[in-house]
Amino acid sequence: MVEAPSVQIRALNASYGARAAIHDLSLDCVAGAVTAVIGPSGCGKSTMLRCVNRLHESAANARVSGAVFVGQADVYARAVDVVALRRRIGMVFQRPTPFPTLSIFENVASGIRASGIRASNRALSDSVEAALQRSGLWPEVSHQLHGSALALSGGQQQRLCIARALAVDPAVLLLDEPTASLDPMSTQGIEELLYELRGTVTVILVTHNMQQAARVSDTTAFMLDGVLVEHAPSLALFTTPSDPRTEAYLTGRFG
Ligand SMILES: Nc1ncnc2c1ncn2[C@@H]1O[C@H](COP(=O)(O)OP(=O)(O)OP(=O)(O)O)[C@@H](O)[C@H]1O
Ligand SMILES: [Mg+2]
Repeated sequence: MVEAPSVQIRALNASYGARAAIHDLSLDCVAGAVTAVIGPSGCGKSTMLRCVNRLHESAANARVSGAVFVGQADVYARAVDVVALRRRIGMVFQRPTPFPTLSIFENVASGIRASGIRASNRALSDSVEAALQRSGLWPEVSHQLHGSALALSGGQQQRLCIARALAVDPAVLLLDEPTASLDPMSTQGIEELLYELRGTVTVILVTHNMQQAARVSDTTAFMLDGVLVEHAPSLALFTTPSDPRTEAYLTGRFG
C-alpha cells in the first residue's frame, strides 16, 4: 500500500460571492494521522474541507485562493484532473449519500469501476467485500448485497458511503461530521475504523463532538470566523489550550 501523504494548506482564502468564509488559513496535516477540526457552526469547517478536494469551486459564485498540497502534488495546479483528484481525496458528508438507484454491491463497485481500475468479476467482488469489511458493514449486508442501498438504516448507509470511499484506496479521507446522524454503536464502529486507518490514509475529521475529537485524533485544529485559531496535539489542545478563544469555546462560553 502506498504511504499516506501529508496535506498542507497554505494561505487559503475562500468566499461565496461577497461573503468571505475562510481567511488566510494555513494548516499542516501530518501524513497518516487524524486531524480533527472543531469550531462553532458557520466558522468555515466544511468550506475548508471542500477546498481540499476542490469541491468548493462548484458552489455558486465561489472563489478560492492560496494553495493546497497533498504530498508534493499541488491540488490547484492547472493541469490537475479534478475528477481523478476527488478519487484520491475521498469525502464523506454529514448526511449519508448512497447512490439511490444502485444496489449495496454496486454502490461500492461503481467507485472502483469509475476509478479505471480494471478487475475481473472475482477481484471486484473481493474488493467490494474488503471495503465493506473495513467499514464494519459486511456482517450486516453480506446476505443482501444486491438489495437496494436505500433499504439500509442511516448508520448503515453512512458506513456504505465510507466503504465506497475506501474501495478506491484514497490517500486522503475528508469526513464532515460523519457520525452526526449515527447511534452510539455505529459511531463507535466508525471511530474504531478511523483508528485502524492510521498510517494508511490521512484523515481530516470535522466534528462537533469534542470527546470524539479527543478520542480519535492526533491533532486538533480550532477554527473561529474563518480563521485557524490554534492547532496542537489533541491532548494539549483539550487540556491546556494556548489561545484564550480556544479555552472559551472548550468551556462552553460560546458556540
Ligand atoms: N453555498 C453557500 N452559499 C453562501 N454562503 C455559504 C454557503 N455555504 C456556506 N456558506 C457560508 O459560509 C460560512 C461558512 O460555512 P460552513 O458551512 O463552512 O461552516 P461550518 O463551520 O461547516 O458550519 P456547521 O458546523 O454548521 O456545519 C457561513 O457563514 C455560511 O453561511
Ligand atoms: Mg459544516
